[in-house]
Amino acid sequence: MNNPTEISTQTFQSVFGALPEVTASAPGRVNLLGEHTDYQGGFVLPTAIPQRATVQLRRNGTVRHQLRSVQLAQTLVTAVGDVGENFAPYLTGCFALSGIHDGLDALIDSDVPSGGLSSSAALEVATLRALRDLYHLPLSDVELALRGVQVEHEFVGVMCGVMDQMASSLADTRTLLLIDTRSLERRAVPLPTGSEVLVLDSGVPRRLAESGYNERRAQVEEASRLLGVPELRDVHDIGQLDILPPLLLRRARHVVSENARVLESLDADAAGFGKLMNASHASLRDDYQVSHPQVDNLVALLQADDAVYGARMTGAGFGGAVVALVREGTASDVAGRVLPAYEAATGVHGSQVVP
Ligand code: GLA
Repeated sequence: MNNPTEISTQTFQSVFGALPEVTASAPGRVNLLGEHTDYQGGFVLPTAIPQRATVQLRRNGTVRHQLRSVQLAQTLVTAVGDVGENFAPYLTGCFALSGIHDGLDALIDSDVPSGGLSSSAALEVATLRALRDLYHLPLSDVELALRGVQVEHEFVGVMCGVMDQMASSLADTRTLLLIDTRSLERRAVPLPTGSEVLVLDSGVPRRLAESGYNERRAQVEEASRLLGVPELRDVHDIGQLDILPPLLLRRARHVVSENARVLESLDADAAGFGKLMNASHASLRDDYQVSHPQVDNLVALLQADDAVYGARMTGAGFGGAVVALVREGTASDVAGRVLPAYEAATGVHGSQVVP
């Protein structure tokens, strides 16, 4: 496994001619249950993945930022105070919201795959951690996560919820982190006995994810307005949704039923947890309509495998990653069976991301 921190330390010096002052990193996440609930005050159940984004910073004594991405082999230069384009807003947003007026040299490196595993949140949390270290900012891990969310809203233009940045800032790779996205209370939850997590990249690039995401969010906000509740978190009976027009009813039904699935999963064994994941996928595909035909294909192949308790798309959707709960010790075998069948059926090359 490559070590991004080590690679980028050498690279920093060759790109900027000096050593970085700080290095920080943060993980991507995979969400097991509770999808598209975090902007309606709901419950989510993510865990950190081993892949991380790493950010190194150095004050350069000028009025410009020089931002180098190792993956893209690209350097962007922006004036202090400007947002910039491409990947720049993820960093300049963190700088601006942290009140930084110095010109910074930044090197970013990440092995978090893009598409449903929070590569953006990992980059924001790593950048904010680096700034916290460099400037001794009095930021708690929760405040840091919320600042990352603000970067998405104000600088990137995605009206995301709080799950990704909270998970990147607070989750570990060994347990699930149950987050109440209204109160931000959280607790670690063990994986069901005898199970492990498998994450596959469907190889389907996400398309229209940002516009589709913001549209779904607007739809469920409209639904909660029509229902007269602060958020869909406050609806406990699916029957209450009957007054909604058909499209909004489907959208709201996903959010309300998904919240119930997260709470039910807390007492479930592996088989029960897996069934809830399968139901979550069907709801995201049919009611929320954020899946993709090829992702559905990959999920169906996983669900049909004897060692799999349950499988679903994960993250915002529109392509990207798939998560499965499988019998402990079988994840790589499952991937070895399912990925070739998926490629034969769709012509798309998928890959194993975790473990
Ligand atoms: C994206 C957003 C999260 C969350 C998920 C869907 O990852 O950033 O806030 O809404 O989609 O569950």
